[in-house]
Amino acid sequence: MISSDFAPNENWDDAWISFKLLFQPWRWYYGKEIKKVKQKLFNLFKISNLKFKIALFLTGRAALYHLLKNLNLKPGDEILVQAFTCEAVVLPIIALKLKPVYVDIEPQSFSMNPIDLQKKLTEKAKVLILQHTFGITPIHKETILSFIKKHNLVLIEDIAHNINIKNQQSKIKKHFFLLSFGRSKALSSVFGGAIVGNEKKVMKKLKDLNLNQPSYSFIFKCLLYKPIVMLIKLTYNIFIGKMIHKAANFLGLFIPEITYQEKKGIFDLTFNKAYPNALAILLLHQLKKFDLMQKNRIQICDFYNKNIPNLPHPISNIPLLRYPFLSKNRNIIIQKAAKYNIFLGKWYDQVVAPKSLDLQKIGYSQGSCPNAQKVCEQIINLPTNVKIKEAKEIIKYLLLYSKHALYSKHALY
Ligand SMILES: Cc1ncc(COP(=O)(O)O)c(C=O)c1O
Repeated sequence: MISSDFAPNENWDDAWISFKLLFQPWRWYYGKEIKKVKQKLFNLFKISNLKFKIALFLTGRAALYHLLKNLNLKPGDEILVQAFTCEAVVLPIIALKLKPVYVDIEPQSFSMNPIDLQKKLTEKAKVLILQHTFGITPIHKETILSFIKKHNLVLIEDIAHNINIKNQQSKIKKHFFLLSFGRSKALSSVFGGAIVGNEKKVMKKLKDLNLNQPSYSFIFKCLLYKPIVMLIKLTYNIFIGKMIHKAANFLGLFIPEITYQEKKGIFDLTFNKAYPNALAILLLHQLKKFDLMQKNRIQICDFYNKNIPNLPHPISNIPLLRYPFLSKNRNIIIQKAAKYNIFLGKWYDQVVAPKSLDLQKIGYSQGSCPNAQKVCEQIINLPTNVKIKEAKEIIKYLLLYSKHALYSKHALY
């Protein structure tokens, strides 16, 4: 089984650590690992913790919710956010009675288009969320930073997909980073999120929140996740994995990444909790091998670059969480590849994913971000945390079913 979505980050070493923790419930809530995780994250950013502080949460969406809540915003204040994103970014905005204003994207880094940004700006805009889609640094980042300074906005850099920020020295007065350690991100502790920020008062409020811990059964299921998915991945091609997957779902052993309530466009308080020590232990292990995983992602992206002909904007030397590929044959490619147990992703197949979300309810008017809408129809995500042998397989089916002529962004622009 090869998959962009299903446990792309887990391995047997992760599963073993998780399995052992199942029998050590006294380490689940509190322990020294929380502090260690914070220090390791600072090292990753290569920033000094004198200026920046960090606060951990059970999810990225909870982190964003509490950050926005503590920025002294008024109901109706506007948050500039790109289309081509997911509910986790938009629902906290709506839950706080703020207004998401959707900005169209450019086709190279799938991030905000500064021309559309200028058009969408009103006096009510207070915050800009700058998404690093798939881990790509937005190509217009410098222009957008100048825009933020000029209009005195708060900057939230959404680096949930991958942490690819080095030697951070911010010239923005109120500068925050949103991180996620969800199971489909580049660092997985099954669930997890953080805010790193340079505004002392806000960061102090976030650190003093004293949120409730998730329940024992929530943590138990998180710990069970890693061993079970490894068993599924190991035995998927011989059918047993499919049965285990079905059984785990039937028994409710997997906590959904997006809840039923969220799919209906309502912010779910289930995830609005503290980050437990058990998940910090899982994250510490992922952090230990992060450099290696990033190197592998770069190698695989370069392999895709070299072996997929006529790519209009090959992205090199970046450890992408997922490799974007556009094709008018998107649905056929995904369906056919799935027959060979290759599951390609669709982030994002709607301007605010998932597809079940009612766009009107979350304040998006059809046609207001045309580039994002087009990309949503054609995007395929290739996994990057795979072996070269697997990447070869993926390309084989990709080229076969995209019938050579139809793929690439040429089809789009
Ligand atoms: C762009 C982006 N930002 C933030 C998040 C929030 O992450 P979490 O799932 O930890 O709430 C996600 C989740 O998928 C995301 O895709």
